[in-house]
Amino acid sequence: MSSQEPPVSTAPRPAVAAVVVLAAGQGTRMRSATPKVLHPLGGRSMLGHVLAAAEPLGAATTVVVVGAGRAAVEAHLARIAPAALPVLQEEQRGSGHAAAIALDAVPDLAGTVLVVNGDAPLLRVATVEALVRAHVEAGNALTVLTAEVSDPTGLGRIVRDGDGAVRAIVEERDATPEQRAIGEINAGVYVGDAAALRSALGRIGADNDQGELYLTDVLGLLVGDGAPVGGARADDPADVLGCNDQRELADRRRTLNDRVLDDLMRSGVTVVDPQTTWVDVTAGVAADAVLHPGTQLLGTTTVAAGAVVGPDTTLVDTEVSGGASVLRSHCVGAVIGPDVTVGPFSYLRPGTRLGRGAKVGSFVETKNVEVGEDSKVPHLSYVGDATIGRGANIGAATIFVNYDGVTKHHTTVGDHVRIGSDTMLVAPVTVGDGAYTAAGSVITSDVPPGAIAVARAPQRNVAGWVRRRRSGTPAAKAAEAAEGRVEAAGSSRSEAPGADTEQ
Ligand code: UD1
Ligand code: CA
Repeated sequence: MSSQEPPVSTAPRPAVAAVVVLAAGQGTRMRSATPKVLHPLGGRSMLGHVLAAAEPLGAATTVVVVGAGRAAVEAHLARIAPAALPVLQEEQRGSGHAAAIALDAVPDLAGTVLVVNGDAPLLRVATVEALVRAHVEAGNALTVLTAEVSDPTGLGRIVRDGDGAVRAIVEERDATPEQRAIGEINAGVYVGDAAALRSALGRIGADNDQGELYLTDVLGLLVGDGAPVGGARADDPADVLGCNDQRELADRRRTLNDRVLDDLMRSGVTVVDPQTTWVDVTAGVAADAVLHPGTQLLGTTTVAAGAVVGPDTTLVDTEVSGGASVLRSHCVGAVIGPDVTVGPFSYLRPGTRLGRGAKVGSFVETKNVEVGEDSKVPHLSYVGDATIGRGANIGAATIFVNYDGVTKHHTTVGDHVRIGSDTMLVAPVTVGDGAYTAAGSVITSDVPPGAIAVARAPQRNVAGWVRRRRSGTPAAKAAEAAEGRVEAAGSSRSEAPGADTEQ
């Protein structure tokens, strides 16, 4: 699997009692109907990334503060983290207000709590663990994750005293010019003692430029109490970047993808063009797989060693086995067996399972179909709701007619069957082992093993029709010339003009 984690320390994991994710904010700057924390990147929502970064802490309690787009966020949460407790913040009165509501929702909670902004999708497990460890080792009441960034615009600044001790976090809009010059910023990730947090959150005010209750003010209050607080710098400043608008979302997505591809290439995957290759954090690619330009591996897609994907191929929740190649195709929920070839221009839909050595070719759509070993669907076909045996060949432009307008029906095609080009297989229908169908047939009843089914109108030739009905056209002239040649050759079979012959 591709993991975007640096090697995780083997030191024992400090215990964290609860994780609190702040995800109630509007995200106004996204200018989107989708709540900010639900915007996807790299295979997860922003919220999903934050939860994944905290997951290995093994906290017994996870609280997610919801507000803006609450219904959608709660529905998403129920899907990705059903054990998490959504807590409603009716009115978005600031991050401090949100944190206080979260802690109020779990009144018995004591011990170490991780509080994290919901819009920090690049946060990594190792970074969170290092922060927690620094907090526990220092015996702090509160430790804040910080980073040195080249452009701190819009972020809270970390104010340290002459000894380097953290004294306060000041939001940019409330900062003095000297404070604005500080390059160390607040990442929006905090580890604190539950009791200390409760005490300080009970005392924060809204005396700031936005008139909001700032979580960041907790730090200064605890300093005032003489409580031990600290700041832990992230190794990689990219880890802590928030995401406030579409431009930043695109940047975060690119950074995340770069990390995934770096890991893959380090592990032995060939990525021909990292600029146009996109791999979700949830996808897995084995060493010695080859990804050509324009490849997207999404969801739970896995690609085995020796498989070749792309160019210009999107795989969603698809499994590609060793030796397979998938070229210029779109596949969703498919299982592509060893040494299979797919494409160019194939569309594999959910439930497609291709056995070893099978082939699906150009302009073929498949859905809910099992294709046996070495069977081929080479061109221009629709194959839905079917079982195809081994060694069968499905002729060009065959349609599995699976839908009667109300219900979907199944088609069974046996081993070594030859389906003639342009066959309609009207389901439910079975074509027995070794049977053939004649090209252009509409097959509505079962074909016994070894039979050939011919289900098409007999051919009728109307001689001389073009000469009579299209006289003077190039076709008629060509026909006359051809007939002249036949007569010149002394054929006694030439007919009297005007006679119709039906064969
Ligand atoms: C916040 C920090 C800032 C830090 C930055 C890092 C504060 C006051 N400032 O600023 O120091 O550098 O994150 O990205 O916290 N939220 C709620 N309810 C609210 C308001 C906010 O749940 O009423 C949530 C938001 O959904 C978000 C988080 O709290 O996940 C932070 O809020 P946001 O408005 O994004 O704060 P920033 O201005 O980014
Ligand atoms: Ca933010």
